[in-house]
Amino acid sequence: MLSKSLFHAAVAVALASSAGWATAQSSEPIKVGLMLPSSGTFAELGKGVADGFKLYVDEQGGKLGGRAVQYIALDDESDPSKANENANKLVKRDKVDVLIGTIHSGVAATMAKVARETNTLLIVPNAGAGEITGAMCAPNVFRSSFSNWQPGYAAGLLAGKKHKTAVTISWKYAAGDESVKGFREGFEKSGGKVLKDLNLPFPGVEFQPLLAELATIKPEAAYAFVAGAGQVKFVKDYAAAGLKNSIPLYGAFLTEGTLTAQGEAAAGLQTTLHYADGLKNPKNDKFIAAYTKAYGAAPNVFGVQGYDAAQMYDVGLKAVKGDTKKKAEIYKAIENAKIDSPRGPLAFSKSHNPVQDFYVRVARGNQNVMTDTIVKGLVDPSRDCKL
Ligand code: BEZ
Repeated sequence: MLSKSLFHAAVAVALASSAGWATAQSSEPIKVGLMLPSSGTFAELGKGVADGFKLYVDEQGGKLGGRAVQYIALDDESDPSKANENANKLVKRDKVDVLIGTIHSGVAATMAKVARETNTLLIVPNAGAGEITGAMCAPNVFRSSFSNWQPGYAAGLLAGKKHKTAVTISWKYAAGDESVKGFREGFEKSGGKVLKDLNLPFPGVEFQPLLAELATIKPEAAYAFVAGAGQVKFVKDYAAAGLKNSIPLYGAFLTEGTLTAQGEAAAGLQTTLHYADGLKNPKNDKFIAAYTKAYGAAPNVFGVQGYDAAQMYDVGLKAVKGDTKKKAEIYKAIENAKIDSPRGPLAFSKSHNPVQDFYVRVARGNQNVMTDTIVKGLVDPSRDCKL
């Protein structure tokens, strides 16, 4: 049996070593897994997200929740067939504390599955797949961006103000299908009717047959979901086919970050997103200045979504003083966060999807200039989320 003094000494040693362990633990950097595309049609979008995330961390002196940050970056190639292996590499081999990713809905849905299986925090900084904050919603899965339904719905409301019939064109995968579904809901709500949905496989750019069919249907308007490098060709092909003046084209991402490459073909196009050039608020003023200084170009929505993903994780980590073991507390803090975003106030629905305003933008020169707010505080229905 231990004497009283020996017992006290043993307790003291145990406490000291556990305190030492805690200190060593918290002095280690937080491991951030950046699973984003750095090749393929979404490469620029992935760069925007990563740049935005790193800008926020740099503004905090290179720290999140008081701890230094180590990045582990992986090119997901926007390839759903590699997503399971890639996400597991980051979680199991690299032991990241958080997964940040990605752009493509199909890849992100698999990341959400891996995050659920391993109780790893996932913040999706773009991909809008409905199931992530729908049937697959989870305490540890969040989005800093949008659900595909949201910007599509906003575009439907906008087009429905002027037109009675429309045809949609999209890439055939979750983002295209859901964006079109949102558009149809908004358009029908405003009294419009979608005559036909045309599509092609992701990331195909053979738009001519679809544009020819659109021309024969002759709707009053068209809505398109193609993104990244693909949208540059689409908008140019649309104008070259002589459709721009006869069938007004609407979109959500269609002109985001690509106006310089699209040139005159994009002039005047109207789109609906949760960010816009010329959006005035103090946070956005500072964000634009800092981003432009750091990267030599103005930010777009992808930079905002990356920046806010970092803000969200910082809120979670600060709530636990950087102790990543307190997972449930981190999730609660993010769930209840009120983020001062460059896009305006940002809060989260029960399913962890952003509740946010959607803006009307018109393409002028190299800017998507804000002209109006089409819907305020839009909540994704997330009908199948059981949180
Ligand atoms: C998506 O796959 O969810 C997506 C990709 C690019 C822009 C918007 C959404």
